Amino acid sequence: MRLKDQVALITGSTSGLGEAIAKRFAHEGAKVIIVGRNQERGEAVAATIRGQGGDPMFVSADVTSEQNVKTMVDKVINRFGTIDIVVNNAGLVLPGSVIEMTLEQWNKVFQMNVTSTYLVSHHAIPLLLKQKRGSIINISSEAGLKGLKNRSAYCAAKAAIVGLTKAMAVDHSSKGIRINCICPGTIKTPMIQEIIENHEDPDGIEKEFLNRRLTPELGTPGEIAEAALYFALPENRYVTGAILSVDGGALAK
Ligand SMILES: NC(=O)c1ccc[n+]([C@@H]2O[C@H](COP(=O)([O-])OP(=O)(O)OC[C@H]3O[C@@H](n4cnc5c(N)ncnc54)[C@H](OP(=O)(O)O)[C@@H]3O)[C@@H](O)[C@H]2O)c1
Repeated sequence: MRLKDQVALITGSTSGLGEAIAKRFAHEGAKVIIVGRNQERGEAVAATIRGQGGDPMFVSADVTSEQNVKTMVDKVINRFGTIDIVVNNAGLVLPGSVIEMTLEQWNKVFQMNVTSTYLVSHHAIPLLLKQKRGSIINISSEAGLKGLKNRSAYCAAKAAIVGLTKAMAVDHSSKGIRINCICPGTIKTPMIQEIIENHEDPDGIEKEFLNRRLTPELGTPGEIAEAALYFALPENRYVTGAILSVDGGALAK
């Protein structure tokens, strides 16, 4: 159990990548905090982890609301006393070029991806600093490192997460806090499933997702969870400010 009794808060863990990360960390003995707005899904993820002998906690929170984030952190302190690991995973993709996107859609993508990462980090990092150790893992995307068609706001927001990761690493690494970033390529989660189902040519878009890669198949949530575990493990103390692509070679192509 490589994360035994570490307290790990994972945003957007009622589904998809966050759920896989929460389950992986719990398997390594972490006390995980499942965060999302959907009570039913959050309780279900927590129940599964509890059923496997873990000690999880579900907190219903909208991570774009500062009041919700403050209350969430207070609840975690009341229950576990501290936080050791934060995974800023909650995110949202809305399609469109800059001509097509409304200001409201643009702001929503930035709030969900960038502001949420700022807010959770802003309220959690002081706790990590008190104990002079901890790991923050920000989830960006392949879209944060290259241009993708019809994804103007998403590419810009995910690139901002790459920049924010480096800035946070510069500010806090000397105090024992490591801040790293994962850029996943397409992984079949509910987010991607919805994009495929709503597309005018579902088979075509799925082929397009695969054609961007060097690997014969798309990745799985479990593979992103393994990358997150690497960054979370205290023994990887020399790793900070790193941007790791887990994208089937999409960036190399
Ligand atoms: N799947 C991919 O191919 C892929 C590739 C690259 C990057 N990513 C990134 O990976 C992250 C997870 O994506 P996913 O594919 O796992 O998506 P997903 O299945 O749609 O899950 C998104 C999660 O975010 C939570 N969430 C959304 N808005 C929220 C809010 N305002 N407050 C709190 N939680 C909120 C959702 O929970 P509730 O509905 O309960 O609020 C859900 O748990 C995102 O940042 C995404 O951009 C995904």
